Amino acid sequence: MNAANVPYAALLLAGYAVFTLWCYRTALLSWWQNRQQHHSLHDVLIGYGSESGNALALARSLRQQLVSQGQTAQLINLNKIAPAQLTRDQRLLIITSTTGDGEAPANAERFFHNLSSSGDSLQCEFALLALGDRLYSNFCAFGHQLSQQLKSLGARPLFPVLEVDRLCPQTIEHWYELLSASGFPVQAPKTSTRGVEKNEPFPQRWALKKRTLLNHGSPGNAMYELELSSPLAAHWQAGDTVLINIAGQQREYSIASTPAEDCLRFLVRMQYHDDGSPGLGCGYLCETISERDVIELQLKRNPACYDPAMDMPMILIGNGTGLAGLRAQIQQRLNSKQHGDMWLIYGERSAEHDRPWHQQLNQWHSNGDLTALNFAFSRSHAPWPPSLQGKACEGYVQQILKREVLQLKQCLAKGAVIYLCGSRDGMGSDTDRTLRELIGSDYVDELELSGRYVRDVY
Ligand SMILES: Cc1cc2nc3c(=O)[nH]c(=O)nc-3n(C[C@H](O)[C@H](O)[C@H](O)COP(=O)(O)OP(=O)(O)OC[C@H]3O[C@@H](n4cnc5c(N)ncnc54)[C@H](O)[C@@H]3O)c2cc1C
Ligand SMILES: Cc1cc2nc3c(=O)[nH]c(=O)nc-3n(C[C@H](O)[C@H](O)[C@H](O)COP(=O)(O)O)c2cc1C
Repeated sequence: MNAANVPYAALLLAGYAVFTLWCYRTALLSWWQNRQQHHSLHDVLIGYGSESGNALALARSLRQQLVSQGQTAQLINLNKIAPAQLTRDQRLLIITSTTGDGEAPANAERFFHNLSSSGDSLQCEFALLALGDRLYSNFCAFGHQLSQQLKSLGARPLFPVLEVDRLCPQTIEHWYELLSASGFPVQAPKTSTRGVEKNEPFPQRWALKKRTLLNHGSPGNAMYELELSSPLAAHWQAGDTVLINIAGQQREYSIASTPAEDCLRFLVRMQYHDDGSPGLGCGYLCETISERDVIELQLKRNPACYDPAMDMPMILIGNGTGLAGLRAQIQQRLNSKQHGDMWLIYGERSAEHDRPWHQQLNQWHSNGDLTALNFAFSRSHAPWPPSLQGKACEGYVQQILKREVLQLKQCLAKGAVIYLCGSRDGMGSDTDRTLRELIGSDYVDELELSGRYVRDVY
């Protein structure tokens, strides 16, 4: 073809293309509308991986926003998503934390495993918000691993993984902006959302009023109760913790008291390194500082662990220093007068030596504040000490759940909330597994989704 004719040929082709599009305009328009509608109405899946409720709280509020904009969005824990569900039209919004040492939260582990072993190619689009804490060396590691895995199977990220350090509200706002720019009808939350509330300004100065060894003669490490006082009024609620800076590192402790007691109370367990030296935080709190010394700390809001329904029964399950978080919940309910029944299930080692706050627990049990009280002791057996009230058994808290399964089911049928506090490994994971065996995994997931299964584990 003569070079001089090229522009004419191009013009002709362009004209033909425009003419063709014009002829098919109705079909094309309907395809586009269909696609838009399909995307906006049916295919948003919000998957969360959450150990102690923060990711779940954020996922819940994201769903609320989408639903309030007329979108149908399904909220589901990641373990419940089968890779085969992640088809072309699916849009997956993931909010997941990292726990342990860069590990997956329990309700995301299976999803990751299934992806790794499925080898299916994924067609979906996804966005991932990774919750973490820069104080951990594997910052947001699981969020990144999961994103890599999804990408390696062909899923398309809408934008890069967004890392959130200690629930930083600005980063969470940015996530909403990115979602909005990707076509989701959401707006960055203006007010603080459940799960992203601000902490009290750092630092607050509190004086150590009293330190008491609570488990003299125990086969385990020493456990101390610490009481701290401050001349200034402070506000917190059951579920909140304190952060203490020691030698450039931060340690977190559950608050056992309510503001009405006019003191901050903790339970701290001694831990030791292989060379016999004490752990940084526990050593500082239980050995280094003396009564009347002043320490700096920050109150940390932990809304994911707040009592979701004071008027409903509560089943409080925990071990060791987990009793701190449980005590705060009990005391807060007692302060309010109008509250549902409370059933405490607590595990420790020795019935003779490991009974922190046993007088208070006995009193709460005998006056009916605690409607039921069960102990599990891993290193003791009947006959139980005469001073022990409630029921005791040998073993662990999950064995109490098995024995009392009828009571468990009756309580849940009345709308009970389960509050789990203490060690994540061992007590936390075994109790979760036992609950799933006893009442069904789907029911446990439902309880978690509706806020009736609160895990305050560390
Ligand atoms: C939400 C939350 C609530 C908590 N509430 C409580 C509470 O109420 N009471 C309580 O006692 N604790 C609580 N903790 C745990 C607490 O924050 C500390 O982790 C605990 O006191 C131990 O810290 P440490 O600085 O004393 O010990 P660390 O110096 O951190 O050592 C801890 C243990 O890890 C081992 N270790 C440390 N470094 C290494 C290493 N490099 N390699 C191998 N092993 C190592 C040590 O030998 C020791 O056994 C809570 C934690 C969280 C996250
Ligand atoms: C026991 C424990 C271990 C943690 N490990 C990590 C970690 O390895 N990397 C990280 O970035 N964050 C880590 N975090 C911080 C959590 O990811 C962060 O607190 C998050 O907000 C928790 O969200 P969740 O309540 O949904 O699980 C850890 C927190 C706890 C309590």
